[in-house]
Amino acid sequence: MRVLVLNGSPKKGNSDTIKMTKAFLEGMKDKGEQDITIIDVIDKHIEFCNGCFNCMLNGGNCIHDDDMREILERILESDLLIWSFPLYCYGMPAPLKNLLDRTLPLSSLAMQKVNGRYEHVAQSDFSHLRYIMICGCGFPNSKMNFEPAVRQFELCFPCNHTIITVPESPMFSAKEADIVTLPKLEEIRRAGREYAEKQMVSPSLIDEIKKPMILEEQYAAIVNGSVGK
Ligand SMILES: Cc1cc2nc3c(=O)[nH]c(=O)nc-3n(C[C@H](O)[C@H](O)[C@H](O)COP(=O)(O)O)c2cc1C
Repeated sequence: MRVLVLNGSPKKGNSDTIKMTKAFLEGMKDKGEQDITIIDVIDKHIEFCNGCFNCMLNGGNCIHDDDMREILERILESDLLIWSFPLYCYGMPAPLKNLLDRTLPLSSLAMQKVNGRYEHVAQSDFSHLRYIMICGCGFPNSKMNFEPAVRQFELCFPCNHTIITVPESPMFSAKEADIVTLPKLEEIRRAGREYAEKQMVSPSLIDEIKKPMILEEQYAAIVNGSVGK
């Protein structure tokens, strides 16, 4: 499978979330060879969309001549896009959202009603693409936290998507937390193996993965105890 990972964490290789994504990729590789490319989005020159709609009216040609041209080509050549990002203010970090905005050239201005809502008609063929969101966050709770990012992902990619969310993810960068993070990474590796085999992850495993690694009160106490030290 040709896999393109869009690493939306500005921490690049030190990202808590990319550790989970790498575990998922290892699981996929257990089941066969994968052609994997990781893009650190923060390193790319991507101008903001200025909303001119030139791309939608002119066969996909964006007025900006920047790294997004190559990224769009890579997206279309891929089978699977993994959006790996930390939750920032209940959404995705701004550089990754900027990249998402700049995928507008893949669609035309024409709109159609599908399952009760409107979406743009494609002007490039991306019907083969599958999508995974892997998202970590700093709070121990998933409810009242991940919902906006999850909903945005579901609406942007209504078909062929898999969503993995993990709370308390700064623990992935704390050696002392290995006792709980290593089993969590193993669950995520298992999810990668399942995905490589079935192009989906069972809902029970996704539910298991989204459980906090330690009690939320304990996690909050540890974080609060370390503040100012
Ligand atoms: C600007 C900013 C906004 C954040 N917003 C949230 C948030 O809305 N909810 C949450 O649980 N954590 C939030 N966090 C915490 C990060 O999601 C958390 O530290 C995560 O582990 C960072 O992942 P990374 O190492 O992959 O970048 C925020 C962090 C930053 C820097």
